[in-house]
Amino acid sequence: MTSTINPETLSGERIEELQQIAGDHMFMHAAQTNDWRGNLKIYVKGDGVWVETADGQRHLDAMAGLWYKSAGYGRTEIADAVYAQMTAIDSAPSGGSTLPQIELAGKVAELYPDHGARSFFVSGGSEAVETAVKMAKKYSILNGKAGAFKVISRRYSYHGGTAMAVSLGGNPAADPMGPLMPGAIHVTNWNSYRLPYAGDPVDVAIKCANEFEEVIKHQGADTVAAMIAEPISAAFGIQVPPAEYWQRLREIADRYNVVLIADEVITGFGRTGEWFAPTNWGVQADITSVAKAITSGYAPLGAAIATKKIADAFVGGPNETFKHLITFGGHPIAAAAALANLNIFERDDLVGNSKRMGAYLYEQLQSLYSHKIVGDVRGGLGLLAAVELVADRGSKTPFPAEAGLAKKLPKLLFDRNIVSFRAGDLISLCPPLSINKGEIDFIVAAIDSALDELESDLGI
Ligand SMILES: Cc1ncc(COP(=O)(O)O)c(C=O)c1O
Repeated sequence: MTSTINPETLSGERIEELQQIAGDHMFMHAAQTNDWRGNLKIYVKGDGVWVETADGQRHLDAMAGLWYKSAGYGRTEIADAVYAQMTAIDSAPSGGSTLPQIELAGKVAELYPDHGARSFFVSGGSEAVETAVKMAKKYSILNGKAGAFKVISRRYSYHGGTAMAVSLGGNPAADPMGPLMPGAIHVTNWNSYRLPYAGDPVDVAIKCANEFEEVIKHQGADTVAAMIAEPISAAFGIQVPPAEYWQRLREIADRYNVVLIADEVITGFGRTGEWFAPTNWGVQADITSVAKAITSGYAPLGAAIATKKIADAFVGGPNETFKHLITFGGHPIAAAAALANLNIFERDDLVGNSKRMGAYLYEQLQSLYSHKIVGDVRGGLGLLAAVELVADRGSKTPFPAEAGLAKKLPKLLFDRNIVSFRAGDLISLCPPLSINKGEIDFIVAAIDSALDELESDLGI
């Protein structure tokens, strides 16, 4: 059986058949089979911010796939680049490389604030995080800290689905996996809506950052290899910190000789209106994990980008070699997709558009405060925003699970042709960076109307 490429040929009967196969034989990621069986959305076409299902429904993808479709759908020049590479040479024999891999390493260094940067290419975000942490540990050993194996991260963060990444992610209770990586230590995460401590937000942010220092002092700086954080935690609800937070993280990392890792799997490549998010705050991380937008999801690729200072420690003899290998890491097909993708970013100024349209989106979302159930509108740094719904705005009390928002809201939005993610108490917004004002207006109007219906359903 071959897959059906031409969506026009998808009959109702064929769709039913596909539903049956999926329902019987597929795991959907992080999803309950009973929630989608028989009703799986099968997408067959995409163009810009729009996607189309097999049964002909057209929706605006307000989540850019899963935080990655930054260049938008239907970019045939990426497909052409992939085809050209695949027909020339799809992969290199062991020990060699290919044109797009080399050119991509050069392009990333050109875009990265430290132009001496060196990239270790992998296949996705979790591998990028694993690679960054292993690199930080080995760097620490090479840098005179032989006993450094501990890594400090933040509660309620998300760093991926593999064992080490789950250990660093701050919510292991989400799916208990038994003992996690030894040496994973968690500190308080930044939360702009429900400040973790009383006080002025900037002081509280600095206090949160200082928790990294307290752990380092308590554990002993010689035992700590790295500290890792997402510049804006999407998993924790699009939490944009004040500039002082990352500036303080940088100071602590420098003072104690600890590697600072920015997990930019979501924020990297323009999402925040800068190529890399810490630039917004005048900060440079030592290692940056990226994935998603590097190819806009046209092919799976990730990277751990090391500054020259870090990377140079690995240039020497056998002892300095970074003995880390991922067979398909930086696959030439994916590298070709990344180059064509980043070419679109530069040609169409998608990073500038992210800044401009991000400001517009954030401004338009403010109108939603007319709904009593809107507790907080977050964002303001590029095209990453969230609307948090609460049962009581004054006390910021969340809706009880029985209110059923987690199921109701995605449906209300879908009925208004918006694809959202994890809509529930929180409507996250992460549209393609190519979005325009009219499309943003469409999203905001759809949310407005969905909230009207939700409020009347809840009797508010
Ligand atoms: C900040 C962050 N790090 C790492 C990952 C893991 O990336 P992947 O799912 O490509 O393995 C994600 C995924 O959403 C992420 O948001």
